[in-house]
Amino acid sequence: MGILRLSHVDITVPDMDLAKAYYTGVMGLDITETTDDRAFFKCWDEEDHHSLAVRYDPRVGIDRFAFKVETEDDLADLEKAVESYGFHVHRVSRGEEVGQGESIRFETPSGHEMELVHEVDKVGGRMSKLNPEIPIDLQGIAPPRMDHMLINAEEVGESAKFFMDVLGFRMTEQLVGGDGHQIGVWMERSHSPHDIAIVNGPNGALHHFAFWLDDWDHVRRSADILAYNAIQIDVGPTRHGVTRGNTIYFFDPMGTRNEVFTGGYRPDPDFPTITWTEDNIGQAVFYYEGEVNERFVTVHT
Ligand SMILES: [Fe+2]
Repeated sequence: MGILRLSHVDITVPDMDLAKAYYTGVMGLDITETTDDRAFFKCWDEEDHHSLAVRYDPRVGIDRFAFKVETEDDLADLEKAVESYGFHVHRVSRGEEVGQGESIRFETPSGHEMELVHEVDKVGGRMSKLNPEIPIDLQGIAPPRMDHMLINAEEVGESAKFFMDVLGFRMTEQLVGGDGHQIGVWMERSHSPHDIAIVNGPNGALHHFAFWLDDWDHVRRSADILAYNAIQIDVGPTRHGVTRGNTIYFFDPMGTRNEVFTGGYRPDPDFPTITWTEDNIGQAVFYYEGEVNERFVTVHT
């Protein structure tokens, strides 16, 4: 019961045509709906209406991110929990937002707009259920689904407390500074190494969102596709110490950081939190390189 997984990330882009060309042609997502100033995308193996929404705005940024809850009652319970914590909750009625039913929206301690939604239109995946051949008409990287996201917060500890105490997330890993403060936290609801990570940085900022790939071979192929399309790679292909996942970070042509991710472990609810210390930050973040590049910690949208 409660939160299931990341539902969708809503970002802003200054060039809708470029965004559509990149997220379909290079990333390999499907467009499920467009409006005057928005486009909605999903991965080929996702059933729900969208996992990424882009809205035209002169500035690159993030509007909100949404997690999906299991039942209608979860929405009401979490609405009460967020209000009890002292935050105002805004109810979005059925029909107000494209592709989904009723939801609640509120501001997190890090100044992000977060949404919880139960009912999302089912548009179906591309995979046949009873004769499941991988679709052959995919283009670009074509991840099967969205995986997780990383947001920034000035007070990581305060945000972690909100996500755990109020929203029921479990912390798989943390990176702790010499002064004992949390620099980064990785938290899950879906028995994956993380559904959301929060790392020290400006409130309200998006660091990246990540698409799931099935294996390392798909990561390697993604690197080829990115290079062929002259997409700026930030880091990788490499592996994280935290989460143990294989990864590539890169920027969409408008400047939002994307990631492709595979591997990692499967934490049960009794998984003991792994603690990394700041003196080992290089290995924690990029296990092969052993160091974190300046761009990775300073560029946000
Ligand atoms: Fe990530």
